[in-house]
Amino acid sequence: ERLPALLAALPKAELHIHIEGSLEPEMIFALARRNGVALPYASVQELHRAYAFTDLQSFLDIYYAGASVLLHEQDFYDMTRAYLARAAMDNVVHAEIFFDPQTHTARGVALETVVDGLHRACADARAEQGISASLILCFLRHLSEDDAFATLEQAMPFLDRIIGVGLDSSELGHPPEKFARVFARCRQLGLHVVAHAGEEGPPAYIWGALDVLKAERIDHGVQAVRDPALMRRLANERIPLTVCPLSNQKLCVFPDLSRHSLKQLLDAGLVATVNSDDPAYFGGYINDNFSQTFAALPALTAQDAWQLASNSFEASFAAESDKRAWQ
Ligand code: HPA
Ligand code: ZN
Repeated sequence: ERLPALLAALPKAELHIHIEGSLEPEMIFALARRNGVALPYASVQELHRAYAFTDLQSFLDIYYAGASVLLHEQDFYDMTRAYLARAAMDNVVHAEIFFDPQTHTARGVALETVVDGLHRACADARAEQGISASLILCFLRHLSEDDAFATLEQAMPFLDRIIGVGLDSSELGHPPEKFARVFARCRQLGLHVVAHAGEEGPPAYIWGALDVLKAERIDHGVQAVRDPALMRRLANERIPLTVCPLSNQKLCVFPDLSRHSLKQLLDAGLVATVNSDDPAYFGGYINDNFSQTFAALPALTAQDAWQLASNSFEASFAAESDKRAWQ
């Protein structure tokens, strides 16, 4: 294994983690039992065997099924504490955590229950482990913009506990333009804005996320390598990409990790970062993403490793004083 000690020890920020994607199969079964929720899988092993994905949608179907065990504030708390404890072991000092409110409110769980559990976990992890964490509310792009507006309305009492909004779920057929008005409103409210774009979708979706949504970061963005003008823009404007190599491998975005575009992104001067996306589903947390990607791409150097960690702080929404302290 190449550079393992250096990679593991680097302090880093994680900027692309869906908290529902940190639910390990064992915790899914434990919460199902605790809450009396029936699962369409007989055992942890059977659930694990279903984690054979062919594309983004084949993953999302199982990911939403897994999230159905989350009902009470304590469930959201336990999930988030488990993630932050695991992230701290990988020397993550700051995490910006995505959550999908519509996945829960559609099942009758109040948004307050979700935000209370996530926020209490972030506060306790900061106090007990010294890890910094903040929350980014994601709109589900397979649902309507009206549904996103209704979610924003429900979130109004909790905006002091959310640093920004994002856009996730099924990308193809749901371009950024569909959410132009709700993102404009979020920007007016002073929220940071990010968006998944160019995971499976074309470079045009990245242009749309930048020009129409005014996204400050692009989540994934790996399809940008297909568009030289877009690559120049991302580099010139220092728009960060939150890249998730193991996710891209498991969802067949690249045929193999050895064909991943991370090195091209770095060599073109883009502010690329490495993240875990949905670590319980894709076979690894952030340090696994670093070590497996460096093992698969011999062109990546120790300098690249340092650059990726440095980029993670530059790309974060943390205070400049915190960023300086962490680096
Ligand atoms: N892409 C889109 N939506 C998601 C993802 C992803 O990688 N993970 C969780 N929701
Ligand atoms: Zn994602």
